[in-house]
Amino acid sequence: MTISLTITRPDDWHLHLRDGAMLKAVLPETARHFGRAIIMPNLVPPVVTGAQAAAYKDRILAALPEGMRFDPLMVLYLTEDTDPADVAAAHASGLVTSVKLYPAGATTNSASGVQNFDKVRPVLEKMAEIGMPLCVHGEVTNHEVDIFDREAVFIDRVLDPIRKATPGLRVVMEHITTKDGVDYVKSNPKDLGATITTHHLIINRNHILVGGIKPHYYCLPVAKREEHRLALRAAATSGDARFFLGTDSAPHVDAAKESGCGCAGCFTATNTMALLAHVFEEEGALDTLEGFASKNGPAFYRLPENDGTITLTKQETAVAFPEKIESGDGPVTVFDPGYPVFWTVT
Ligand code: NCD
Ligand code: ZN
Repeated sequence: MTISLTITRPDDWHLHLRDGAMLKAVLPETARHFGRAIIMPNLVPPVVTGAQAAAYKDRILAALPEGMRFDPLMVLYLTEDTDPADVAAAHASGLVTSVKLYPAGATTNSASGVQNFDKVRPVLEKMAEIGMPLCVHGEVTNHEVDIFDREAVFIDRVLDPIRKATPGLRVVMEHITTKDGVDYVKSNPKDLGATITTHHLIINRNHILVGGIKPHYYCLPVAKREEHRLALRAAATSGDARFFLGTDSAPHVDAAKESGCGCAGCFTATNTMALLAHVFEEEGALDTLEGFASKNGPAFYRLPENDGTITLTKQETAVAFPEKIESGDGPVTVFDPGYPVFWTVT
C-alpha cells in the first residue's frame, strides 16, 4: 500500500556545510528538501564576527545550484573575545540568527571555544536583553569525566548555572543524546528548546562498537545507551514543541573518518527526511513529524514557517540511497541506518 504525507517544507536547526569544494557538494543535499538551516560556524578559522558571517553567507549562496531556494541562517562562534556590540548589530541587521557556544575542545574545530564562562557573561547578558538564542554544544571537556557522561555533567555544572545567572537567555540545547537532556528541557518550561538529530533516533552505542568499529556511526556527542535513544524517540515524536530537528549532518571525507584517529560526524543530509518518516511511522507518530521538522523550530526561533511543502511517500520497494557523495576532496559516506527504508521525498 502506498502511504503519502505532505508537510510544510522542513528546516534543519543544526547543520555543517563546511566551505569550498565540500560546501558545493553537500549544499544541494540539504537544499533539496529543507527551506532553511542554522549553519554551524566551526570552520577553520571559525566564523566569529558579523563580517565573517556575511562573507560565509555569500559563499553559501554562491554555491547554491541555479533554481534551488535555500536560506542559510548564520551563527556566530562564541569566543572569550566576542564583542557584545558586534553580536547585537549582526542580529539587529538580520544577518545573524544565533550564537554558538562550544566548550573549548569539545568537538571538531572547537579549539577557539570558551574555557572561562565568566568571560562571555557580557555577551550572554546582551543576548538575553535582545532575545537572541544561544545554541549550546552541551558537553564538558574535563578529562576526568567519562565521554558517555559529559552531557549530563554539562547540564549540572555549566548549563543550569548559566541559565540561572542570565534570566531571559533563550537556549537551544543542541543534539541532545540523553534522557537527562530530555528531562532537563521538560522540567524547564521557559526559554529552553532542544534539537535532536536523525542518527541519534536510530543508533545507540552498540552500533558503533559491536562486531567491529564503525567509524561512520561515530559522532559527537557520542551515541549513548539504548534507554537514552528511546527517551529521544519519545521526545521527538511526542508533539512537545520544545523538541525540533537539527540533523547535525557533518560531512568528513572517508579518509578522515576511516583512520587511526577518525573524525566525529555523521552525514545524514541526503536521507534524513526519509529516515525520519521511517522512525515516526515505527513509533505510530507520523502525525507529529510535521511539528518536529517544520513547525516547532520556527516557533522557538520566532520565524515564520516555510512556504511550500514536501511530500513523503512510502513505496513498495526499498529505496536505494546513494552510498556516497563525491565532494571534490574525496567521497563522503551517507549515513546507513542498517535496515531498508521505503520512504522517499518528492
Ligand atoms: C561536528 C563536525 O564535524 O563539525 N561533528 C559531530 O560529530 N557532530 C561537530 C559538532 O557539531 O560537534
Ligand atoms: Zn554539529
